Amino acid sequence: MESQAHNRQWAGRYPDLGTGPLSTEPYILEERFAREKERIFGRTWLNVGRIEDLPETGGCFARDIQASGASVLIVRGPDGKVRGFHNVCSHRGTRMVPDDGRARRGTKILCPYHHWLYGAAGDLIHIPDEEDFFDLDKTCHGLSPVHTDVRQGFIFVNMAADPPETLADYLGEIMEPLDGCPFDELKRTFTYRVEVNANWKLLFDGQNEFYHLPILHRHIMGRDFVTNAQGHHRYRDLRLYACHSFSAVDFPSYRTVTPLRMALASDLYETPEFRVPGMTGDMDQYTLFPNLTIEIVRLARTTVCVTYAVWPMEVGRTLWEVRFHFKEPASVRDHLRQQSFRRVSLDILQEDVFAAESVYAGMASRGKSHMILKDSEIILRHRQKVVEDFIGGPQ
Ligand code: FES
Ligand SMILES: [Fe+2]
Repeated sequence: MESQAHNRQWAGRYPDLGTGPLSTEPYILEERFAREKERIFGRTWLNVGRIEDLPETGGCFARDIQASGASVLIVRGPDGKVRGFHNVCSHRGTRMVPDDGRARRGTKILCPYHHWLYGAAGDLIHIPDEEDFFDLDKTCHGLSPVHTDVRQGFIFVNMAADPPETLADYLGEIMEPLDGCPFDELKRTFTYRVEVNANWKLLFDGQNEFYHLPILHRHIMGRDFVTNAQGHHRYRDLRLYACHSFSAVDFPSYRTVTPLRMALASDLYETPEFRVPGMTGDMDQYTLFPNLTIEIVRLARTTVCVTYAVWPMEVGRTLWEVRFHFKEPASVRDHLRQQSFRRVSLDILQEDVFAAESVYAGMASRGKSHMILKDSEIILRHRQKVVEDFIGGPQ
């Protein structure tokens, strides 16, 4: 009886989510994907990067949002303010800056086609051969703004002409425990971008459950995340919000030396660790619906931050962007340790990509119409309900 009660720990806390099998159709139907693009990616706040991606003295980067067929230009002006615009020239509609994962310096944007020039506030500054146009008022032809806001250095955009909620209202309290996190010190980032043959939700599913860690990732993390005598994992804490989720897990002190531990733990680590005062477990995970997970991992004297951004392309194809955020290393030893963590993590991510693609292929074959979830997979259940709430109902 006791173990049965434990197995309903989270289902008991969130009884509305139920415990039955879930349909796999939300992952494979084109028609549903079309509604997700419009009603989720077209209307909610999407993370497009971090403020450190932009030079402090001013600069810009482009982010293509295939789900809404758009590209946004994120610009930091000399006033430090971050603004977003459609990456479209007012002259004849050129997409001006490529989304190549890197920022450009400077506070002006030059269209490469005929060199119309814009300021950081989107204002049209200069038109070559302006006198050949007809009564053109430059003040009326700046770039088209996109709703843009910043929380904790994370830059968000909302592609709706009139977003139903502000970013603050949309996020609610989910990010409050991160308020003391010195993200601004984590200036050293490494990005891993991969196109995955899987539905976008599967990339989150693989991050939000830990059932697979001692199994799929056994060669890399062994029993690092096993928390019970039966060799499985249990959340230390879990909170499901209106559409976001939080989970905390512990990193028990096994003596086994796994590649992950080798990469993370060392008493000789010299870079001062960063502290997150509001941390709950050894690994806290914040999933901000619909496109970002922020993960903070603490072990021995090391703390690392990893973010996972998800960009749907097609119903069965997704751009996955994983970033490692480190402090500047204090020594060569620490540089090597960061590289080691990154290398080990890439091996883990390859296994996750393999798993997501395998699940998608299996679901798409319709060999099974439902999936069966356990108590510790409740975040997957929650996400399916959140998606349903967004895309169901009348237009
Ligand atoms: S299309 Fe941009 S300057 Fe002509
Ligand atoms: Fe994994």
